[in-house]
Amino acid sequence: MTSRILSGKIIADAIKAEAAYEIKLLESGHGFRPCLAVVRIGEDPASAVYVGSKVKASEELGIISEHYHLGSETSHSELLALVQSLNQRDEVDGILVQLPLPPQINASEILETIDPAKDVDGFHPFNVGRLTQGEKALVPCTPAGIIEMLKRSNIQIAGQHAVIVGRSNIVGKPMAMLLLQENATVTICHSRTKDLGAITRQADILVAAIGRAGFVRGEHIREGATVIDVGINNVSDPQLAGEFFNGEDLEKRLATIEKRGFTLVGDVNPTEAMAKAANFTPVPGGVGLLTVAMLMKNTVDAAKRRRRIN
Ligand code: GUN
Repeated sequence: MTSRILSGKIIADAIKAEAAYEIKLLESGHGFRPCLAVVRIGEDPASAVYVGSKVKASEELGIISEHYHLGSETSHSELLALVQSLNQRDEVDGILVQLPLPPQINASEILETIDPAKDVDGFHPFNVGRLTQGEKALVPCTPAGIIEMLKRSNIQIAGQHAVIVGRSNIVGKPMAMLLLQENATVTICHSRTKDLGAITRQADILVAAIGRAGFVRGEHIREGATVIDVGINNVSDPQLAGEFFNGEDLEKRLATIEKRGFTLVGDVNPTEAMAKAANFTPVPGGVGLLTVAMLMKNTVDAAKRRRRIN
């Protein structure tokens, strides 16, 4: 079997085009453009890339974007004060504090301070609770994007067994809630799960969100499954790249390592997955693009809900 590759770009472009249209309607009909404030602390290189793509997408779509980049020594109370001032400014519709935060900052207290109506990441306990109860909520962007990808690719969710590897608050747990809401049977696996393969081989839909390059192998995948790779890992060792890619793909990856020092690899071994899965998301070019697209959608939704516009 050779997998159908689920292109994040095509689906993300469609979601962004819908958001851009809504933004034009808000501007012409209601006289404002949504405003998103993005806060980044310190010099984490991955965060710099992610925030850069969030700010760029906002500007392309006509969202007013405010980018706060504070030093790595920023104190907890300084960040708290910034979030509180963004809460108070009525024209700010969305607030995003990029994770991870440096150790002197209590991340959960910061996330709990964000006004739930402006919580475009969907990380505030109010939105987490509403999601769990199946009520309307701002929902974390990556898992919401995965649901969009499955639906727009006509992949059945209801009645299917979805297995998630990884239990983070950003992906694993909200992914489980969203799949449950779509009537999947859901299993969450993690680092302490016994005989992982016995469970993942039951998956019709397998979501890998562990944070380890190529962790999910062919032996974990049932023939004909849909495999969603959420991982974004840097691989700089050419020999390691050789374990994940072959032929022309490997040549391209080696050239990328030569040029940039690393290549991006997901949590799934792509060569092995493509020999078994019916559908597979590439890295890069898969789920990551959807995260940004859903952030744009959440910002538009937050703006409309806060301002009581249908
Ligand atoms: N760090 C990794 N993913 C995310 C995300 O979706 N939102 C935020 N705020 N930080 C992240």
